[in-house]
Amino acid sequence: MAENKTLPRHVAVVMDGNGRWAKSRGLPRLEGHRRGAAKARQIVEWAADCGVRQISLFAFSTENWSRPKIEVRGLMSMLATLLPREIPAMQEKGVRVRALGDITALPGKAQKAIDKACTETADNTRIDLVLCLNYGGQQEVLAGAKRMCNWAAEQQDTAAALDSIDVAKFRNFLWCDELYPVDLLIRTGGEHRISNFFLWDISYCELYFSHRYWPDFEQDDFEAALADYAGRERRFGKISEQLNAANDGEAA
Ligand code: IPE
Ligand code: IPE
Ligand code: MG
Repeated sequence: MAENKTLPRHVAVVMDGNGRWAKSRGLPRLEGHRRGAAKARQIVEWAADCGVRQISLFAFSTENWSRPKIEVRGLMSMLATLLPREIPAMQEKGVRVRALGDITALPGKAQKAIDKACTETADNTRIDLVLCLNYGGQQEVLAGAKRMCNWAAEQQDTAAALDSIDVAKFRNFLWCDELYPVDLLIRTGGEHRISNFFLWDISYCELYFSHRYWPDFEQDDFEAALADYAGRERRFGKISEQLNAANDGEAA
């Protein structure tokens, strides 16, 4: 089947604004995270219904450990209690859960919940839900560089092995290796920054910023992001005429 270029295969979301959503209502920040978790569940369904193949949700960054202990603890315990409850619905909807980030640093109960969700949904094929937990884009690139160096050290000619690595081959050493490259990155909450999300793989993705706080992000907003994406021309360094010629089946 021909690839539908107007629909992103892989959507990544920086789910930002839970704290401000709560604050604006005089509620504790954790209530914002609770509402945010419910929204995460919804966006997976919207994405699956639209035919998106992978959705990566930035749930906890490597930098988020610096937040007040009570918030970090609350987030980890939400993960441990809410994720297992979602498994039956995810089975029904064909959602395969995957994790991205250094999961081994999470509390044991949270790790167990993630392992269980990944194992039990492993055969589902409709959409991948990639939970980015203790994830940092710089950490991913650094870990990839170390893996590459270790691999090269085991080769007969280490210098030649390193020399053979190009951009595509380097990606094999990264955590994102098994994912499609990110086509569309959505950030809610009004900030216009990446905050250490997918650094390598966002090199050519389309960026979409929404002023809405994450708990207020609705299906219409998601569909507006997809419609915006559909109207973009992804030139990857080429010029428009080359793309049009390729679409017409001519040699570009
Ligand atoms: C994003 O919302 C969720 C996590 C980082 C876990 P925030 O908690 O960053 O919400 P704001 O930015 O403070 O409003
Ligand atoms: C990014 O949001 C991380 C997640 C959504 C998990 P932050 O709220 O942590 O980002 P900064 O600190 O505003 O850059
Ligand atoms: Mg934030």
